[in-house]
Amino acid sequence: MTDLRGRRVLLGVTGGIAAYKSALLARSLTNAGAEVTAVLTTSAARFVGAETFAGLTGRLAHTSLWESSGDVVHVQLAHDTDIAVVAPATANMIAKLAYGLADDLLSATLLEFDGPLVLAPAMHSGMWAAQVTQTNVETLARRGAHFVGPVTGALAHGDEGLGRMSEPDQILEGVRAAIAADGSSLETRSDDLAGRRVVVSAGPTREPIDPVRYLGNRSSGRMGVAVASEAFARGARVTLVLGPGAVRPGPGIEVVDVETAEQMRAALLTHADGADVVVMAAAVADFRPKVAADRKLKKEQGVPELVLEPTPDILVELRSRKSDGQVLVGFAAETDDVVAAGRDKLARKGLDLLVANEVGREGTGFGADTNDAAIISAATQEAALRTWTKAELARELWDRISTLLPTPTNG
Ligand code: C5P
Repeated sequence: MTDLRGRRVLLGVTGGIAAYKSALLARSLTNAGAEVTAVLTTSAARFVGAETFAGLTGRLAHTSLWESSGDVVHVQLAHDTDIAVVAPATANMIAKLAYGLADDLLSATLLEFDGPLVLAPAMHSGMWAAQVTQTNVETLARRGAHFVGPVTGALAHGDEGLGRMSEPDQILEGVRAAIAADGSSLETRSDDLAGRRVVVSAGPTREPIDPVRYLGNRSSGRMGVAVASEAFARGARVTLVLGPGAVRPGPGIEVVDVETAEQMRAALLTHADGADVVVMAAAVADFRPKVAADRKLKKEQGVPELVLEPTPDILVELRSRKSDGQVLVGFAAETDDVVAAGRDKLARKGLDLLVANEVGREGTGFGADTNDAAIISAATQEAALRTWTKAELARELWDRISTLLPTPTNG
């Protein structure tokens, strides 16, 4: 579990009845070892006093941009923060963050801050469902914000619905997950990939049947995004070739959006040229319709018969063009004899490393938080299946990859 010891957490509290639960969150974060600094908006302070937070965190709780005549409070606060969490996050604060407004201490600090941000929305269900709120949430999520909730339950004034803030324990888990996903663990923050160029593929592909239908798969892209984020945190220049609908990485990683296996192939062949490492974590379709209709297939025409053809094996093609010293890593989803099947695939595709994932059970593989996987190497025999979070697996994978990289030559 991600350690919070020594983490500097900015706890933003905005004006909603759920603010009372933020006091519990402040206590849980502090108990987990974090250094918590609370920043309350004026309306939050109508629900809970700043002294409550100061008492629970042992640190001054801030409420105003103008509390100090000399220092620029928001700049200092942003620089002294490793991760920010806003709980509750009102529709108003979400809108301000989406648009970059900075008219109070919390919004100004968060505009200055460029680290991981966790938002726990709380509002009436109509405000949450409003198109504008949903657009703002999407904007922030695309920018890399992590959302926890809201959930369905009792709201203010006896109402019920979707809009209730998640419980403090859940938000605490969200903070841990955001730290893990950010790949910036204090203990392992190292620059061992500085100067390296890395290409990662992630997510599913979609193979068109007609202009509106496609063959797809359940890949969420989370594993590949974790791999890309870890490389970025370790100093690499990272290009992520990303399939549709998948999660997106935080800022700093170049994203090339693709849809079909053919587009993924083209993007990878371009970007892999001269890269130090290529990691194929994408769930590329193995088959696609031989012909995609250029008009929507109509029911009245009867049930269509789909004839499939294999897609190009991108990894095999990358292998045939690979330059000396380039490290090539594949992923394989397996249901039986995971390690043996993985070793076989590693040899067949001529890879340096292969992550063999167990799929088909709950809690592992597609969309899950954890993976049961083994890292198999062409160089060593040992490989054991174990349960990892996707961030842990990404970290271990880069530890292994970095031992395979040739020492950089100067000039
Ligand atoms: O052969 P299999 O599909 O199980 O191999 C999985 C690995 O091969 C993954 O790394 C995946 O990204 C890659 N792959 C590929 N091109 C395909 C299918 C899979 O590069 N058409």
